[in-house]
Amino acid sequence: MSLSVAGTATIAPLTEAEVARIRADFPALAEIVNGEPLAYLDSGATAQRPQQVLDAEVDFLKHSNGAVHRGAHTLAGLATEAYESARETVAAFVGADAEEIVWTSNATDALNLVAHGFINATAGRGGAAAQRFVLSPGDEIVVTEAEHHANIVPWQEVAAHTGATLRFVPVDDNGIWTVADAAGVITESTKIVAFSHVSNVTGFIAPVEEVVALAHAAGALVVLDVCQSAPHRTLDLRALDVDFAAFSGHKMLGPTGIGVLYGRKELLNALPPFRTGGSMIETVTMVSSTFMPAPQRFEAGTQPVSQAIALAEAVRYLNAIGLDRIEAREEQLADRLLAGLAEIPGIRVVGPARGVARAGLASFDVDGVHAHDVGQFLDDKGIAVRVGHHCTQPLHRRLGLTATTRASAYVYTTEAEVDRFLAAVAGVRPYFGVSE
Ligand SMILES: Cc1ncc(COP(=O)(O)O)c(C=O)c1O
Repeated sequence: MSLSVAGTATIAPLTEAEVARIRADFPALAEIVNGEPLAYLDSGATAQRPQQVLDAEVDFLKHSNGAVHRGAHTLAGLATEAYESARETVAAFVGADAEEIVWTSNATDALNLVAHGFINATAGRGGAAAQRFVLSPGDEIVVTEAEHHANIVPWQEVAAHTGATLRFVPVDDNGIWTVADAAGVITESTKIVAFSHVSNVTGFIAPVEEVVALAHAAGALVVLDVCQSAPHRTLDLRALDVDFAAFSGHKMLGPTGIGVLYGRKELLNALPPFRTGGSMIETVTMVSSTFMPAPQRFEAGTQPVSQAIALAEAVRYLNAIGLDRIEAREEQLADRLLAGLAEIPGIRVVGPARGVARAGLASFDVDGVHAHDVGQFLDDKGIAVRVGHHCTQPLHRRLGLTATTRASAYVYTTEAEVDRFLAAVAGVRPYFGVSE
């Protein structure tokens, strides 16, 4: 199978032989878990890291570690150069300029940074430039019912602080929503539309361009959660015309402790900062301070330097393979997962049907067996999956489920691992004595 990109070029998915070579770069994939070779199907939660990324961080710490943007000595200079060069690498990866990339600690932190910009502007911070972020009663914030809590709770806080109303785009019985559903909620009162590019539960791929057009026509700003797309597909945030976007390093072969906020330059320079202190100011007196331009105005305190540098190495690693080929491969693996799960009695997969574009993951309910028991059963066989509500309680409530089991693939996932997983899932209901 091949993937047709924009209806023209055909992209060859990564082959099994290439994946075998890629796997050799990942020490964690050689682990034996409960006496079995690890089958790591939990990359949607956090990805494993290749040796190149581990080495990049350690090499920096061994040879160039220093405080960035503040020392006159050689190591401080080397560290600053590497830190800023990492920003350029990550910016290019998502189609942005370096000044549009703010380092945060994770995607949750990035979304909170934007949310608190609105809260602070409404509280009178940021002067005339920040007026566009001021919210009042009657204004509306739109999210979808399928969002990760990281893209719901900060907006609830914004609503509570500003008097704005939080509205949501409803999803159907499979957790899917359409442009028409979004159009039914976005109105002239909408000031913010926040949604995820790819759902971490259903693998649903949102119609970003259409929703951005609707939001902008209503005068609203768009915040896109690209946690589950940036690691897996080519992303051009400027072409998508979103105003802000957030993602995490640890889901894309990089370290924990580093996330990214993208913001359009003029917006970032007008948004009041969330965290304040050292590294983000121009002048401080005992009564007031002025702030640096973006991105520094959002990077208060000592920065996650080695993490940023290692994330840039992860980006180079992904670029060398090719995001289009990774996406095509994951589309194949998703199809294999869905086809296999469809064969097993008592399994309900949520999300788009087979044949509809979706990310390389599948979440499902096993009739009569709690997801935590499914997870335990699979773990005993060395198979790592995610179980629970995946930080999407409203979505699970809408689906009539308290928890699901999620298998998620990445660049190093083999067909054999998917098949091992499917064979194990087929054994779950018999093992728990609930099969017909
Ligand atoms: C869609 C989505 N948004 C946000 C997040 C939050 O990411 P982090 O916990 O790294 O901040 C996740 C992580 O699971 C996610 O999948």
